[in-house]
Amino acid sequence: MQNICQNVCKLTRQVGSFIKNEQLNFSSAKVEIKGKNDFVSYVDKAAEQKIIDGLSVLIPESGFIAEEGTSTKKGIEYNWIIDPLDGTTNFIHGIPCYAISIALMRNDKLILGVIYEINQDECFYAWEGSKAYLNEKEIHVSTTKILADSLLATGFPYYDYQYMEEYMELFKHFMNHTRGLRRLGSAATDLAYVACGRFDGFYEYSLSPWDVAAGAFIVQQAGGRITDFKGNEDYVFGKEIVAGNSAFFDEFLGAVKTYIN
Ligand code: IPD
Ligand code: CA
Ligand code: CA
Repeated sequence: MQNICQNVCKLTRQVGSFIKNEQLNFSSAKVEIKGKNDFVSYVDKAAEQKIIDGLSVLIPESGFIAEEGTSTKKGIEYNWIIDPLDGTTNFIHGIPCYAISIALMRNDKLILGVIYEINQDECFYAWEGSKAYLNEKEIHVSTTKILADSLLATGFPYYDYQYMEEYMELFKHFMNHTRGLRRLGSAATDLAYVACGRFDGFYEYSLSPWDVAAGAFIVQQAGGRITDFKGNEDYVFGKEIVAGNSAFFDEFLGAVKTYIN
């Protein structure tokens, strides 16, 4: 699995340099609208095709859950979960925070995660039984013990407003009781930053499996905790996630539960 992980990192660096290069001459005329505030371009699609071609060589019998639907092949045992470009809104606006996110599942279990943050040239990764790494250096979640000392990341609702009021009340609570909040615009990067201790925690709802699968796995291998908003395990397909270091997690999740659900 270590060998496969190294190859996935190499692949993300190759596809990352394609994405970075395309950004240089990118114009908004090339953007297609998938839904409200949901955008895509040939860059997302071409990147996904390159990723699927590369992963198909690594594990020929594997299947794919990929955002742009390039392949819907189902693997009996192994399935990749792919976001070829997480942070598309940043990409089309020329804001340099976007990433490639690739996870591997064996049956129902996550066994590998790679997130490549393209403009920082930072590759975060872990495989079954390993520590978590950033460009070959071991990483850990933060050691912050209380919410009052934490820096949090979130994603603002932008098309699904079902918890809008609750989200805003929770947001106010965190504005009052943490060091601050950030909205980077790439859930994969948010989770990678939790894994290496830059953020103490991250929460968001209305996410898809490709936004969170790799990051959730890497955070756990880095010593962190992940749940859905109820504190249960349904965070890959359940559309909501709370991630953080283990020391302050109960207090953090407690606040989320108090305001939402
Ligand atoms: C989005 C980003 C964003 C998050 C959205 C995601 P995309 O992914 O991760 O940070 O708030 O929920 O959909 O569309 O750029 O791949
Ligand atoms: Ca995404
Ligand atoms: Ca995407």
